[in-house]
Amino acid sequence: MSQIATRILGIESSCDETAAAVVESGERILSSVVASQFDIHRKYGGVVPELASREHLRQIVPVVREALEQAHLAYREVDAIAVTQGPGLVGSLLVGLTYGKSLAWALSKPLIAVHHLEGHVHAVVLEEKQKHPGAMIPFPAMTLVVSGGHTVLYFVESQPLAGHDDAACFSYQKIAQTQDDAAGEAYDKVAKILALGYPGGPIIDRLSEFGDPNKVAFTRAVIKRGPPADDTGPRFHRGGRSRYDFSFSGIKTAVLRYVRTHGMEAEAEERRRMGAGKPDAERLRALSSQATLDLVASFQKSVVDDLVTRTLDAAEEYDTRTVLVSGGVAANRLLRATFEQECRIRGLRVHFPSRHLSTDNAAMIAAGAYPKFLSRNFADLELNADASLPLG
Ligand code: KG4
Ligand code: ZN
Repeated sequence: MSQIATRILGIESSCDETAAAVVESGERILSSVVASQFDIHRKYGGVVPELASREHLRQIVPVVREALEQAHLAYREVDAIAVTQGPGLVGSLLVGLTYGKSLAWALSKPLIAVHHLEGHVHAVVLEEKQKHPGAMIPFPAMTLVVSGGHTVLYFVESQPLAGHDDAACFSYQKIAQTQDDAAGEAYDKVAKILALGYPGGPIIDRLSEFGDPNKVAFTRAVIKRGPPADDTGPRFHRGGRSRYDFSFSGIKTAVLRYVRTHGMEAEAEERRRMGAGKPDAERLRALSSQATLDLVASFQKSVVDDLVTRTLDAAEEYDTRTVLVSGGVAANRLLRATFEQECRIRGLRVHFPSRHLSTDNAAMIAAGAYPKFLSRNFADLELNADASLPLG
């Protein structure tokens, strides 16, 4: 255990949540505040970048203030400021990053840059530390980050930090990614086609309980591969494609076609007409025919099966016994249950963050910053946002 408690203020603003949190020594969440913009983007069925930046500007100061108040800390009592550098919407990223830089400068505290997806990986580790203090997840781990903006698989290895047995540095090797839409984006687009509200994931998760997941057969996405290439490594193919790559735009189009060919448009239009405000599962269920419930349940099953199969096949090929799943879609109940069941069968261990830590939050950014703090990996005030920042 490192001797002195280190309190890091994390700031996250990469998409449509303004978030701030204080995490002590990478393991104890002292506060975690998330201001969501769902109500602003709902009527467009997706995030509108200009509106997102404007809302971040409105929220950033009160959200950070509230995070410090809940942690019972004054600004000068934090040891470092961690910010999400990317990837994400550049206008959104800039708000959190600029405010974090200003605080670091004004308070003379170190500034730490964290990759958003690295934050999602740390969310799983942080969750484990909340549930079982002192426990360490065994690495290497095949890690699926699955959200509205990303669907990516990393092989994550852990290196101990000299002199600190409570922290480790991770290295990331990208194994696969989506060739088109992210899985959460497919949920949101299918919900938009069916007028089920925004965001689509939580409502499809709820409504699927009432549908038959085997009613509509969707074909599994086939990833086109070039011939094996010598220069891109054995598991990647020409054009940077991997055999574990995902694709979700086909299923979204298949849902649209199904709605048209089965005369379900009028029903969706009726829901659209009725549906101002927050998606309410009971109300939407009452406004949905059995055919709609079957369609969303079948869509969900197909997406979940695809995510689980590709991740676990990759875990086996890379000989990892641990699987981590994070990002907004990791909150999905069928995804969790399927991973748990399949991992039991294959003799693997799977870990998820809690619902709060699955979706975007700043505790994961503060936790991800802790090993960098210990190794004095600080950013300077020239730090800039990077909308497509790579990892690994
Ligand atoms: O990680 P996140 O908060 O933001 C991004 O980085 O994208 O993820 C948001 C995404 C949305 O697409 C939302 O529909 C999806 O996560 N989501 C879910 C569930 N809860 C949120 N998808 C499926 N099932 C859920 N329960
Ligand atoms: Zn995210």
